[in-house]
Amino acid sequence: MGLTIDWATGELTGQLVRSRVKKLGELREVFADQARLETMDPETLVYRVQVWLPEDGNPTGLLWGSTTIAPGKVGDEYFMTFGHFHTLRERPEIYAAIRGEGGLILMDENRRTWMEPMTAGSVHYIGAGLAHRVVNTGEGPLTFVASCNTDAGHDYESILRHGFGARLKEAGGRPVLVAEESLAGAGH
Ligand SMILES: [Fe+2]
Repeated sequence: MGLTIDWATGELTGQLVRSRVKKLGELREVFADQARLETMDPETLVYRVQVWLPEDGNPTGLLWGSTTIAPGKVGDEYFMTFGHFHTLRERPEIYAAIRGEGGLILMDENRRTWMEPMTAGSVHYIGAGLAHRVVNTGEGPLTFVASCNTDAGHDYESILRHGFGARLKEAGGRPVLVAEESLAGAGH
């Protein structure tokens, strides 16, 4: 089907592969430390997504994707993907990490939020109705592959409005999942 993956880097090659990058300037809303963000170059590449879509006309076909997140932080918060619910909440997804270190942040509709550690070889089933975001906590790039139904859709709006229930931050040299509620409470 004219699609290949380089398992060392996650690079997809094929005529139907589409690539897009997300720069820091497009991710302002997702990071907590706005003062620190102001001091950083908005052109900084945070992650790149490659997606292959089948052309078989099947409305519930399967896509194949590869995402690489650069290492970095905004203040004490690690670089991460925007994150989303699927528009069709019943659509699950599978992620598998191929290099790097990080965490898959999952959140249910009640904002209960938890993390699964990601490392080369870890496979993650994202059940129906769960928002998902990947965070790179390592020194090098974090790459994972993904597959879900082509009609799943992305609901970014919910994340834009309410965020996730917790953030992955560096504390004492290691990643710690910090609940948003306690952060909000600390300001009052
Ligand atoms: Fe997804």
